[in-house]
Amino acid sequence: MVELEHARNILSELGLNTASELLDAKLEDSLHKEATYLTFLNELLETEIQEKRRRSEETRLKLSRLPHRKTLEEFEFSFQPSIDTKQIKELSTLAFVARAENVIFLGPPGVGKTHLAVGLAMQALRSGMTVYYADLAHLIADLKRAAEQDRLDRRWRVYTRPDILIIDEVGYMQLDRASAELLFRVICERYENGSIILTSNKSFGEWGELMSDTVIATAILDRLLHHAHIINIRGESYRLKNRLKSGVKIAPSAGIPV
Ligand SMILES: Nc1ncnc2c1ncn2[C@@H]1O[C@H](COP(=O)(O)OP(=O)(O)OP(=O)(O)O)[C@@H](O)[C@H]1O
Ligand SMILES: [Mg+2]
Repeated sequence: MVELEHARNILSELGLNTASELLDAKLEDSLHKEATYLTFLNELLETEIQEKRRRSEETRLKLSRLPHRKTLEEFEFSFQPSIDTKQIKELSTLAFVARAENVIFLGPPGVGKTHLAVGLAMQALRSGMTVYYADLAHLIADLKRAAEQDRLDRRWRVYTRPDILIIDEVGYMQLDRASAELLFRVICERYENGSIILTSNKSFGEWGELMSDTVIATAILDRLLHHAHIINIRGESYRLKNRLKSGVKIAPSAGIPV
């Protein structure tokens, strides 16, 4: 079939590779269903656009460096009653990203801070947005290394460009002054320009000590909290769920005093 071959080649040349590959099957399917020309064309182009969207999401997912692919649907809200599900639902509309607002998850280990941050990120990736994930230790080490190798400007963009930057695990690592200054610069660059989702096991009052400098900590918090949704999770660690079930006693979580 010279005509079929010709059409396939044109589709390929136009970069419509999926349509080109599926042309044969779609033609047969349309003949079988006695579909109109327009329905056939729509269906063929639809497969192309779906494949394009899938590839784009996969690429953005890889570039995001998310630690896993857990979704909001997989989160058991009944295990963590201190979380306002309506607030999470509202955040999952991603209106906060358009307004360059921040989301801060506070709480002790294992209560789902990273899971919820990743869940929101997965939603954003599905909607065509870009995300970058780093825990604070990685962010600091990465930027310090880039500065030493004289390529800070280029590396900087990784943290300033994405629609959402996740800074995970603030509080597990004590920062020296130089590290706190780097974090301050990241927060400044994104302030009112792009959303940050941040997780911490420490109350804001403890950040001065954490950053070895109350002036920088105050300046960071001032910008971070200006337009922020704060979710303070008080509850038990999900990691210990099964142990709780089997009756092992664990000291009750006090939550994080904001
Ligand atoms: N309510 C939940 N429903 C389903 N899975 C949960 C829930 N809470 C936590 N998990 C799971 O438990 C594990 C620990 O959760 P997560 O990593 O989000 O905790 P975290 O608050 O970030 O803790 P840490 O401060 O130690 O980093 C993950 O595998 C996560 O998917
Ligand atoms: Mg975590």
